[in-house]
Amino acid sequence: MIERTLAILKPDCVRKRLTGEVIARIEKAGFKILGMKKVKLTKETAGGFYAVHKGKPFYDGLVEFMSSGPCVPIALEKENAITDFRALIGATDPKEAVPGTVRKLFADNKGENIVHGSDSPENGKIEVAYFFSDRELVELG
Ligand code: RTP
Ligand code: MG
Repeated sequence: MIERTLAILKPDCVRKRLTGEVIARIEKAGFKILGMKKVKLTKETAGGFYAVHKGKPFYDGLVEFMSSGPCVPIALEKENAITDFRALIGATDPKEAVPGTVRKLFADNKGENIVHGSDSPENGKIEVAYFFSDRELVELG
């Protein structure tokens, strides 16, 4: 099934000047980029995006980190996008990620792990809509 997933190149990715490197891997893996922008999230926007984790011990740190500098949300489309993107980025904790995955290669720790990916087709649609209006999504090419 053709699915959408929302990637976010997190503030650590931008700070490390790895956005081009990670986007190249996304393109080579066959994902179509429908939309891409650079934004600095407020705490409210970051907290709303990760609202499902509210109350967990890492939530406040996550919101702080995600609003600590610019990030790059990218709307992606591909056959089996959810599973394939999570395979490309690897486990949440880079220590547990498979060699060759983006998090294994570039992430420092479980909190600052370079990139976000949606966890289900439903959330993929919801998360793409959190950052992009329909007019900002380009289907061609
Ligand atoms: P993401 O949503 O960012 O793609 O990451 P994920 O699905 O692999 O992991 P999730 O459980 O959804 O957690 C969201 C983000 O919260 C931070 N986190 N820190 N220190 C910790 O124990 C911890 N656990 C989670 C990470 O930035 C994780 O990506
Ligand atoms: Mg998640």
